[in-house]
Amino acid sequence: MKIWLVALTLVLTVAKGQVSNFESLIVEGESRWNNNALDPILCDADEEECMLYHINNITMVTRTQWFAQPSKEHAQYMRMPVSHVFIHHTVMNECFSRRECAIEMRKIQQFHQVKKRWADIGYNFVIGQDGGLYIGRGWDRVGAHTAGWNNVSISFAFTGNFNETLPTDEALNALEAALIVGVKLGKLTPDFKLHGHRDARPTKSPGQKLYDLIRRHKHYEPIRPKLIMFVPKSHA
Ligand SMILES: *[C@@H]1O[C@H](CO)[C@@H](O)[C@H](O)[C@H]1NC(C)=O
Ligand SMILES: *[C@@H]1O[C@H](CO)[C@@H](O)[C@H](O)[C@H]1NC(C)=O
Ligand SMILES: *[C@@H]1O[C@H](CO)[C@@H](O)[C@H](O)[C@H]1NC(C)=O
Repeated sequence: MKIWLVALTLVLTVAKGQVSNFESLIVEGESRWNNNALDPILCDADEEECMLYHINNITMVTRTQWFAQPSKEHAQYMRMPVSHVFIHHTVMNECFSRRECAIEMRKIQQFHQVKKRWADIGYNFVIGQDGGLYIGRGWDRVGAHTAGWNNVSISFAFTGNFNETLPTDEALNALEAALIVGVKLGKLTPDFKLHGHRDARPTKSPGQKLYDLIRRHKHYEPIRPKLIMFVPKSHA
């Protein structure tokens, strides 16, 4: 009885130690997180990309900064530019600070790598309620987000559930800015089509309220059924 109690305490202490160790890493990183796009060490993309994030007022958060686990497989790359963008919601926690969102990114990545057995976090990008653009698989790598479309599209997932509320203005602005940067970098075609996840799959994602907003976007386009139905001339 006593031995079990000691063992349990030990396990709990070790588990707690790991968490606080990770959290202290985040706190340590936090002071370097403000407006870091121009810092060559913290913006691990090339110079042009870092500059574009900066001038478009995007706070980009690299995988290093959210303490991502490495991908479990070699990356597969897409042919650029792609002409489809899918919007998702995570239906996990919302997050309103760099620290909360970094923890959330780790949770999403763990869910995708362990439970779903994917190579990496599925999304190309995640947008926190703090307005941060968190790098998932990035612009070039094939994601795991919208079956049938993964190798021809980029996904952006908002953290939270947007059935009844909208993401913060900061988060929505980050999406707009990221789309502009995507076109400028030659990752998205200038006439790219914006879709909700549910346009392609039987899902509620990205949530009714966010979906209603996406449908008013100038780049929005529903996905037409691939089969052209026969319509009698009298009904045409
Ligand atoms: C995407 O994947 C599908 C299914 O594996 C394949 O048929 C198609 O050629 C791929 N498209 C591109 C652009 O790689
Ligand atoms: C979404 O919101 C509507 C309207 O508020 C509500 O009736 C519905 O049950 C909600 N659906 C989900 C899946 O939460
Ligand atoms: C840049 O983003 C911040 C935070 O999202 C916002 O408060 C500010 O107004 C933005 N500035 C410009 C010039 O868009």
